[in-house]
Amino acid sequence: MAYDYKLLMDKAKEASRNSYSPFSRFAVGACVLAKSGKLYMGCNVENSSFGMTICAERCAIFKAVSEGEREILAVAIYSPNSDDCNPCGACRQVMYEFQPDDTEIEIITENLGELNIRKLSEYLPYGFKI
Ligand code: THU
Repeated sequence: MAYDYKLLMDKAKEASRNSYSPFSRFAVGACVLAKSGKLYMGCNVENSSFGMTICAERCAIFKAVSEGEREILAVAIYSPNSDDCNPCGACRQVMYEFQPDDTEIEIITENLGELNIRKLSEYLPYGFKI
C-alpha cells in the first residue's frame, strides 16, 4: 500500500535526535504507522548494563501497543550514523507479532537520500507466531 513514506522517515529522523546512546554512539530513530492511522516514534535507549538496551523500533512498537494498537502497517528506521539502517533480528520478530493478517508490514529505510520500501517477509521469512 502507499503511505506517506517521507513523513514516516522525517518522524524517524526527529526521533533519532532523542536517542540515548552514550555507549555505542549509534543513534537510531523509528516511526511506526499503526492501523488506526496514528504515528508512534521511538529511539534506542541504552543502559550501563548493556543488555538492558532497547532498540528504537521496539521502543516505538511498544509505545503503540501500550496505547492500545494491535496492528502495524509500516515502520520507518533512521540512523544518522549509517546508510540504510536495517532492523535487528529481535525487532523483526516483534514486528511480525503485530502484522495484520491481510497486509504485510512495510519497512522504510533511507540510503543516500533515497527511500527503500521493503516488506517484512524480505527481512523475516517464516516468522514465528503462536
Ligand atoms: N539499534 C537499534 O536501535 N535498532 C536496530 O535495529 C539495531 C540496533 C541500537 C541498539 C544500540 O543502542 C545501538 O543501536 C547499537 O547496537
